[in-house]
Amino acid sequence: MSDEFFTDVTTLRARARQHIERGAVTQGYQGQLDVVLRLLNEALATEIVCVLRYRRHHFMATGIHAVAVAAEFLAHAGEEQGHADQIAARIVQLGGAPDFDPQGLHARSHSEYVAGENLMEMIREDLVAERVAIDSYSEMIRYIGDSDSTTRTMLEGILATEEEHADDMANLLTTLDPKAQARANEPMFMSSGKGSC
Ligand SMILES: [Fe+2]
Ligand SMILES: [Fe+2]
Repeated sequence: MSDEFFTDVTTLRARARQHIERGAVTQGYQGQLDVVLRLLNEALATEIVCVLRYRRHHFMATGIHAVAVAAEFLAHAGEEQGHADQIAARIVQLGGAPDFDPQGLHARSHSEYVAGENLMEMIREDLVAERVAIDSYSEMIRYIGDSDSTTRTMLEGILATEEEHADDMANLLTTLDPKAQARANEPMFMSSGKGSC
């Protein structure tokens, strides 16, 4: 690779001294900042909605399998909170402001908050949300590409956890209701393409 590919050290040093109030966002930042910040705030809202939904499911789980499933819901709620915290911290690093305003939270998140009437319905709704999340984060990762490797790496880590969550919910569903496997291709399991946790 030619040396012309790299910026010379004098220019790098001079650039770093300019606009130092922008912190981690240098002139070399290749992302479209306003779009990245909007996407991250939508992901933040979505994760918060997912924390709320999993926590409700944790407290509302009843029936013979409730204890084990409730524990799984709580574990997921904690991991979704961790995602929200990571995303909020990255928004600040990029010079933005994380939006925690409860007004419009649900509209910003795009994801559905489905209370769930019974254990199977809760698990099914969580599985749907996780499958939507997988598509949504995959799209964000593809969009960001090489333009912002820190944000992309963070999103890849979150995506890996959402895949584990989906797998956990699918396993619970088929363990508690073996017929669920046969219904896995019903429309309710298909992703809407909107963001979720
Ligand atoms: Fe999440
Ligand atoms: Fe998740």
